[in-house]
Amino acid sequence: MPIRRTLPPAAAPIYPRDILSGLSGLRHGRQELDRFKTGLKDYFGVQHCFLVSSGRAALTLILRSLKDLKPDADQVLIPAYTCYSVPSAIVRAGLKVQPCEMDPNKLDFDYTQLSRLLLPPAKLHEPAKPNKPKQTPNPFLAIVPAHLYGIPADMDRLRSLLNDTDIAIVEDAAQAMGARKNGKLLGTLGDASFFSLGRGKALSTVEGGIILTNREDIARRISSFLNKTPVYIPFELFKLIIEAVVLNLFTHPTLFWLPKSLSILKLGETVYDPSFKIRRMHPFQAGMAQNWQRRLKKFQIIRKECAKFWSKLTEGLNTNELSCIKHLVESDVIRFPISIKNPSLRKWILELSNQKGLGIMPGYPDSIDAVPALGGFFPDKDFPVAKQYARQIITLPVHPYVTKSDRASISDFILKAFSK
Ligand SMILES: Cc1ncc(COP(=O)(O)O)c(C=O)c1O
Repeated sequence: MPIRRTLPPAAAPIYPRDILSGLSGLRHGRQELDRFKTGLKDYFGVQHCFLVSSGRAALTLILRSLKDLKPDADQVLIPAYTCYSVPSAIVRAGLKVQPCEMDPNKLDFDYTQLSRLLLPPAKLHEPAKPNKPKQTPNPFLAIVPAHLYGIPADMDRLRSLLNDTDIAIVEDAAQAMGARKNGKLLGTLGDASFFSLGRGKALSTVEGGIILTNREDIARRISSFLNKTPVYIPFELFKLIIEAVVLNLFTHPTLFWLPKSLSILKLGETVYDPSFKIRRMHPFQAGMAQNWQRRLKKFQIIRKECAKFWSKLTEGLNTNELSCIKHLVESDVIRFPISIKNPSLRKWILELSNQKGLGIMPGYPDSIDAVPALGGFFPDKDFPVAKQYARQIITLPVHPYVTKSDRASISDFILKAFSK
């Protein structure tokens, strides 16, 4: 890897003043956490908010709480194309993963397959019996729609599909903090939801997870699980502070070539690993999140402007080799995904961009059913669209470190690639 300006694929900058307010959060302890929580509840207009160590930890706690409420159900439906942290959290909660095929245009569920999964075919064709109770025992505990890259999943459609069931909707808003659909904030539309404050999200405190819910029964259980959840031990806190400093220095494009060249860091890789740590958020993280609304807004404006630029560029390309996901322009994306149909062109773009440090990266490596540890056996179902997304998607960077001159270099590069 040459020593040169290198863009990360996604980034929510951590500034020295954020680290300083994190350190001052250490003095305030609980108060700092309460302040962050109150701010979040006000902003999202929700009753309950819980703060943990990651998005995965948040999802695990939500699922454990739901399992407590509905002990007979043990399956969780997720998009077949998503981050591997999602099945990791489901397995960590002691539950089973059921992937669902994707819509080829929208990075959302394929609602035809979803209806089939929710209602076995026999039931679909069964004439309605007036005296039969509507609710049949259902193996599904929850469904986890994901606002992937910040693009809203169709929550209205999902809600209407699940109307007569007791399946909970857990919104995976890990990548969509502050994003809206039709004026409504994502993360406020399910029975419960979570955001990630990890690296490369809309906002980052090195690591962190936020849970929101308006349901008393879920909140009561999460609260009781959280009381038994350990806090960061001093060594973990020390590591967190060091990571904040390292991220401040090395996510900047002038130095990002260094962490990128260290394969041991596995940057940009999505890993299936249910043995992650689950902690209560530390006041250091809550302190780092001071001024989060202002930062989130500022990053959003920058990302939206950049996404508009990529949108214009890709529209102008007018080629059969490339397709755009729907609703990209109106969304608040943290990476700008496009599909490149020609595998050798995609490979060429990724390899050359890597050498030039342009921050263009592939999406997730494969569909969820391909994670070997999940057993690879999902009867009657395969996921060709999810696999196609994994083979075709690349993302263009939209984060605050992308300068006008970076945009120009990336545009020239893309235009050259498509005129090949
Ligand atoms: C869609 C999605 N869900 C869940 C997660 C898990 O969040 P975390 O990395 O904070 O555990 C991520 C993180 O990358 C994600 O992208």
